[in-house]
Amino acid sequence: MERLQKIIANSGFCSRRKAEELITKGLVRVNGEKVTDLGTKAKASDIITIAGKTLKNEDKEYILLYKPRGVVSTTSDDKGRKTVISLIDTDKRLYPIGRLDYDTSGLLILTNDGELTNLLTHPKNEITKEYIVKIDEAVNPTLIKKLSSGVIIDGEKMKADRVKIKKLDKKKKKTIIEIVLHEGKYHEIKRMFASLGYEVTALKREKYAFLDLKGLTAGEYRHLTIKEVKKLYSLIK
Ligand code: URA
Repeated sequence: MERLQKIIANSGFCSRRKAEELITKGLVRVNGEKVTDLGTKAKASDIITIAGKTLKNEDKEYILLYKPRGVVSTTSDDKGRKTVISLIDTDKRLYPIGRLDYDTSGLLILTNDGELTNLLTHPKNEITKEYIVKIDEAVNPTLIKKLSSGVIIDGEKMKADRVKIKKLDKKKKKTIIEIVLHEGKYHEIKRMFASLGYEVTALKREKYAFLDLKGLTAGEYRHLTIKEVKKLYSLIK
């Protein structure tokens, strides 16, 4: 939380003194509410408007990446493998919110907003993630019940919020499953399926909270809108 006049000045909109003048004149709104008190504080996610113009927070960057397979979700790799950071054209020090495995594709958010990262990765906020799982076998449909009631792995219960079979081809020995989880445990999905005797042959994250991959192909990315960032903050319990 920082004083409003400091946030406005830091954004390059005007000087701090001018910002104070704008606030006392009643031209500044935080999340739609007029503020005139110079002691008012705001946070990175707040939407600040000055005489109807939205202030851009130039310091913070929010990227929605369609991570391809064969890329690590870390900022650097000791084995010299390609990182998600190398796919993004930015001068900011971004890092991913959570991780996807090297061979997992799909939706990954990158940012330099530490506050949002901490909030979204905190287990109490139960942010949902939706995955598509491919298995080169025709699974036993009882698998669905087992995944929804939960499996115990290394003394920890891992459970799907929702799970369904999208396709089951007995002839071609292929199954496609949609699964929604809110935890972010290491290799969670692969371990859940392995504990029931199935190997995951391909894994893709289709959704992160309300965000999806619409309009993007693997390796492409876009910036989140201010509205989307705000909505992510609103998911916090
Ligand atoms: N679960 C996994 O096993 N791998 C991922 O990349 C994400 C979830």
